[in-house]
Amino acid sequence: MKNIAVLTSGGDAPGMNAALRAIVLTCLQYKYTITGYYHGYNGLINGESKQIHVDDVNGIIGRGGTILKSARCPAMLSDNGIKQAVSTLMKDKIDALIVIGGDGSFAGLLEIAKYWQGQVIGIPGTIDNDVDQTDFTIGFSTAVNTAIEAIDKIRDTADAFERVFIVEVMGRHSGFITFNVGIASAAEQVLSFENFDCVNKETRLNELSNSIKNAQSNRHSSYLIVIAENLWPEGTTELAKNLTELTGIDCTPCILGYIQRGGSPVAKDRLLATKLGVASVQALAEGKTNLMMGEQNNTVVEVPLRQSINHQKGVSKSLIKAQTDILSVPKQSQI
Ligand code: F6P
Repeated sequence: MKNIAVLTSGGDAPGMNAALRAIVLTCLQYKYTITGYYHGYNGLINGESKQIHVDDVNGIIGRGGTILKSARCPAMLSDNGIKQAVSTLMKDKIDALIVIGGDGSFAGLLEIAKYWQGQVIGIPGTIDNDVDQTDFTIGFSTAVNTAIEAIDKIRDTADAFERVFIVEVMGRHSGFITFNVGIASAAEQVLSFENFDCVNKETRLNELSNSIKNAQSNRHSSYLIVIAENLWPEGTTELAKNLTELTGIDCTPCILGYIQRGGSPVAKDRLLATKLGVASVQALAEGKTNLMMGEQNNTVVEVPLRQSINHQKGVSKSLIKAQTDILSVPKQSQI
């Protein structure tokens, strides 16, 4: 008999509920009790928890967000916060803690493991896909699909008006969403940290403006740039303003924002979340700890938790090259 605790932390991601459901159903199999802490690590620090039963997870596999709520928790950056979290775990007689979240959430979990003897497991849940040692994180596929759907709609207006749109997508400081969305929505340009530096802004602005002018004068059609958030130092709206001035063509900024984080998870995320949720409880039953459950080449893998937050994973080089050499319009070499 074990008391398992679970929380969702950081940016919510579609599929977090599916992972929770799988955890609860697997705990039922092992006759483990399950405690949910609310609002991420804040719930652990403040002792805000509830026993989770099968009824609580009925019908949640297709729901976006997280029924456990989530939060960023600056208190976890301090020794005091970590010790308070540990003291709640001890007071509540928890044997194992599962955290569904991204790299920041895993860093917090590693800190807890320094002071607490219980088992700890991380499940990668973030739309950004920026967690090492797993091909995909829960929520990434849904976010990509959501952004593509939105951009297809923007394309209709862009085509109708032969207009330039600069669409900003999420991803914090990594370009997984940007490249996947940009390529799948046939963007004329994909701009992200991996292929675009803003060191010489004037040169970059001139290149982009020439590219837009070339394309518009030859094709009289729409022109879409998909750009990573946090890339252009003054922001995407300012970039659009600069390009409008330089080209004399209206360049409209469009920040997709939080629609990318919400919505019902696609099949790929539901399945990934379910596989990782089941595997995490199985690993706990085998006495394992300090792991992240991930998936590589369609196989569930157990990875030392520490190795998941080294920021080694990058957007595939061939994808970046294909975009730069072949798919961008006009090709970089023709600018
Ligand atoms: O990590 C997910 C994410 O949506 C990032 O893509 C984005 O940069 C960030 O969270 C926004 O976080 P917040 O909602 O806390 O501002």
